[in-house]
Amino acid sequence: MLRLQAPLPDDFTLATADQLVDRIAAAKQTLGDRLVILGHHYQRDEVIRWADSVGDSFLLARFAADNEVATDIVFCGVHFMAESADVLTGPHQRVILPDLNAGCSMADMANVDQVEESWDEIAAITAIDRVVPITYMNSSAALKAFVGRNGGAVCTSSNARAVLDWALAKGDKVLFFPDQHLGRNTGFTMGYGEADMRVWNPHEECGGLEERDVKDATLLLWKGHCSVHQRFRPAHVEAARVEYPGIEIIVHPECAHDVVEVADRVGSTERIQEWVRAAPAGAALAIGTEIHMVQRLAREHADKTVVSLDPLICPCSTMFRIDAPHLAWVLENLVAGTVVNQIVVDADTAGWARTALGRMLAIT
Ligand code: 13P
Ligand code: SF4
Repeated sequence: MLRLQAPLPDDFTLATADQLVDRIAAAKQTLGDRLVILGHHYQRDEVIRWADSVGDSFLLARFAADNEVATDIVFCGVHFMAESADVLTGPHQRVILPDLNAGCSMADMANVDQVEESWDEIAAITAIDRVVPITYMNSSAALKAFVGRNGGAVCTSSNARAVLDWALAKGDKVLFFPDQHLGRNTGFTMGYGEADMRVWNPHEECGGLEERDVKDATLLLWKGHCSVHQRFRPAHVEAARVEYPGIEIIVHPECAHDVVEVADRVGSTERIQEWVRAAPAGAALAIGTEIHMVQRLAREHADKTVVSLDPLICPCSTMFRIDAPHLAWVLENLVAGTVVNQIVVDADTAGWARTALGRMLAIT
């Protein structure tokens, strides 16, 4: 989705790293309790050092929902996360994304028009009241509202299993979007096989499927993916096991199933953090997720060998857009009484998205 972030004034882009540290610290101190900075694990060090709370997308949604004190929530993450924070916070709070171009290419792989069209196509084939729509957190507020309106829920990488269990207890079939890999990996852990899952391609009529497939499938998996996580291949796992005998392989569930199958553990960014913390000194771990988080873990756990599963660098280019100059810019504007880059979800969309997010929070 195209969003426009105006270039920053020279005063920010030309400032040195030390000057930015001083300016962010000063602005933070002036803003005091009215400000909270939330940071996703994939953020750069120059940003994450300022975060009051750090977490995966589920935890950050919880932090936003639970915080009633701060009026200004600066979200160092990507657009869908900031939207969810806006949906979950009160009318006296505003959510600010330091760079409007910090989107998510996976979230952009499903839009509400495509999902509504797909829903109608599925309704023409099978009893739609038995189909439960589930959207991954990595989706627009409009899609969260769609699932809210249609009896579904949101899930994140840390609770996809619980949400799918819930969905299949109330219906016979799930339309899962936009990440086919999270859907497939979760389906396998629930005991479903290849034959129970079909990929729904929104660019083809009837998802590119035969009517029989749509009727028979338990999980219809939207043809979307994360370009960062899809890079990890089973060959990386093999190579890591050769280079570091005994190494533990930990991957994010946005990785393809053939990688997950040969890994030792699969979990959200928060779970990965926990596993690395819990590993004994001297342990070797190869992590299949975004590189900034892996490099930080390696630095924080110098008594362990923590390496990226893919030796070639693998950043999330949109998370990377949030940097110290953008953070300084939004904070100094707040100090001056100007709100820049506020993320606002319209009331109707927010109401239904809140229903879908609320179901997720209640399930988990
Ligand atoms: P987590 O919910 O695990 O933080 O994942 C979010 C994400 O975008 C991973 O690519
Ligand atoms: Fe989106 Fe992938 Fe970046 Fe996560 S790592 S924010 S899924 S593009």
